[in-house]
Amino acid sequence: MNFELQEIGLVGAAREKCDVLVLLVPKNFKATKDALSQLVAQALKAGDLEAGVGKVLPMYRLSEVLATRLVLASAGDGTFSEVRKAILAALGASKSPGMKKLTVCFASPAKEEAVRSAVLAVADATYVYNTTHSKPPSRSLQHVRLLATNATQLTSVFDRAVATVSGVELAKEWANRPANFATPSLLAKAAQALALHPKITCEVFGPKEVEKLAMGSFLAVAQGSDEPLRFIVLRYSGAAKTQAPTVVIGKGITFDSGGISIKPAPEMDEMKFDMSGAASVLGLFKSLSILKPAVNVVGLIPACENLINGKAVKPGDVVTSMSGQTIEILNTDAEGRLVLCDALTYAERFKPAAVVDIATLTGACVIALGAVRSGMFSSHDGLAQSLESASQRSQDLCWRMPLDDEYAEGLKTNFADVANVAGRAGGAITAAKFLQRFTDKFPWAHLDIAGSAWKSGPQKGATGRPVGLLLEFILPTTKAK
Ligand code: BES
Ligand code: MN
Ligand code: ZN
Repeated sequence: MNFELQEIGLVGAAREKCDVLVLLVPKNFKATKDALSQLVAQALKAGDLEAGVGKVLPMYRLSEVLATRLVLASAGDGTFSEVRKAILAALGASKSPGMKKLTVCFASPAKEEAVRSAVLAVADATYVYNTTHSKPPSRSLQHVRLLATNATQLTSVFDRAVATVSGVELAKEWANRPANFATPSLLAKAAQALALHPKITCEVFGPKEVEKLAMGSFLAVAQGSDEPLRFIVLRYSGAAKTQAPTVVIGKGITFDSGGISIKPAPEMDEMKFDMSGAASVLGLFKSLSILKPAVNVVGLIPACENLINGKAVKPGDVVTSMSGQTIEILNTDAEGRLVLCDALTYAERFKPAAVVDIATLTGACVIALGAVRSGMFSSHDGLAQSLESASQRSQDLCWRMPLDDEYAEGLKTNFADVANVAGRAGGAITAAKFLQRFTDKFPWAHLDIAGSAWKSGPQKGATGRPVGLLLEFILPTTKAK
């Protein structure tokens, strides 16, 4: 699917040859003399197009427009969420089977957030997963054109949005795949494929190397599965070697059964999504390969299954992490923190400017924030603010959560330096407190994406979050926003 942005207004929009033309009508629409303007003015006056955001008026084979279908869609003030709602409603109403060409026209000068929103919403609405079907459904949409009279001011936000889509779709692909099509080895292959790009390199470690690195905590999780672990190190080098990199670490549990502390059967299939953090790291690198910004980024992915064989780690076992700290594994289902802590220690060698880990870490975070905002934890106010502002700009939202030391009380144990779980209360925070013990050497933030990474129910599927947030965080900010 390719995207184009053109400096064209309503007169030109009427001459667009496409399957569907979506016209985003703002709240304060001002008609000019052209036919399309007049049509909109009449539809508004007659009440056939209501002003409420998401209200649409679909039409077919009009003489005034070359597009086969025209959908007028009320888009309020053209904010991110309004445009998203309008586009989803318009595409839902247009019912164009096999739509190949879509044009979206802004009926008044478009805001940056409106352009970003339109690109992401069109991609989201037309995405199809098809890797494991016998007769793969396919995305019919091939060409998307955005028309705005102020297009020249919008090219950089447009390019970013299009690159975000590529990253988001790679993340969706890998997160959606069932665990038998997304093993640690296959994730490593996907990372190696990204390294075909000249600025990207990839190293992959197996069990022997990880043992040498003394990642006893990561190894303990992996030992319960016959599927060999992989530790993936991706590097994007866009700036001078002297520039300290940002390290992103993605939790790569390709299936989380819970281990001996086994999970209940209902919805256990959704634990194939437990590598969504890893998928978002792959997605970020994909976007970087397109935009080629002058930054340095390291991506780390500890990937393994959390399963149950005769060698599986048992509740009460004590393991030694790469940092030297011993951990009593009281619950084998709190495995994400066990693989992440060793990756955090590994990150020290890069002398990073910042480290951000991304993980579907706790059910408690789903209870706290639902699916709207990812949980964000940071011991560094500057880093937290950068993430908050990137979250605002990308509209891939997060919410800062606390890290008071009192929350770590429950992690105390008589048998090791730390336990891997505390009580039920504040579960997302106690998980973050566990991770924080491994972050002394750099500014650190943790994103708990347990609620935001995928949808359950009939719409079950990966969201590709937080690729948008990460990309916006990594890219140098050109102007104060
Ligand atoms: N991958 C899960 C977290 C999860 C659960 C994400 C449900 C999304 C939906 C994680 O490994 C886990 O099992 N966490 C436990 C921690 C508990 C044992 C302290 C949890 O949240 O129940
Ligand atoms: Mn678990
Ligand atoms: Zn997990």
